[in-house]
Amino acid sequence: MRNIVLIGFMGTGKTVIAKMLAHELDGKYVSTDDLIEKKEKRNINDIFRDSGETYFRKIEKEIIKEISLQKGQVIDAGGGAVLNSENMENLSVNGSIICLWSEPKIIYDRVKSTGHRPLLNVEDPLKKIKELLDYRRPFYEKADIHIDTTNGNIKEAVDKIKEILNAEKDV
Ligand code: S3P
Repeated sequence: MRNIVLIGFMGTGKTVIAKMLAHELDGKYVSTDDLIEKKEKRNINDIFRDSGETYFRKIEKEIIKEISLQKGQVIDAGGGAVLNSENMENLSVNGSIICLWSEPKIIYDRVKSTGHRPLLNVEDPLKKIKELLDYRRPFYEKADIHIDTTNGNIKEAVDKIKEILNAEKDV
């Protein structure tokens, strides 16, 4: 199986959708954030706080380079992985890139009670979400497939992704 790579903003459902896809397609669920935390032996908040975002992006790039060599995975990529074109090139070699998208207010509602996203640990997270989304939109638009997860229906998103990937196989 070619890799299925889920990209998209924080709170668009990448993790839950990637886990369900991996389960249904008998693939291996791989999270770049989990691998970064494992490699660094500390959580993402601590990495950002003590070493900064540039350092985090460097480790993220190394991890992506490594996992991109393998197949049969459903990759849950951190929301900012798209900002580095080399990441996208590496992920594309063995994978189809799928971008999940949700409305900013819905993203805010989903992430507001979670504490593990340092970039949103600011006074006005909704404003920050809108700013980051505006800046990142052209990067997210580079994906092969786009799925709107605003309605939060995970099963529907998973089925849609499977349907699109199956149709591509027939071509
Ligand atoms: C980030 C998203 C996070 C994590 C880090 C930075 C981002 O991953 O990689 O906090 O820049 O959008 P999720 O998208 O899985 O929350």
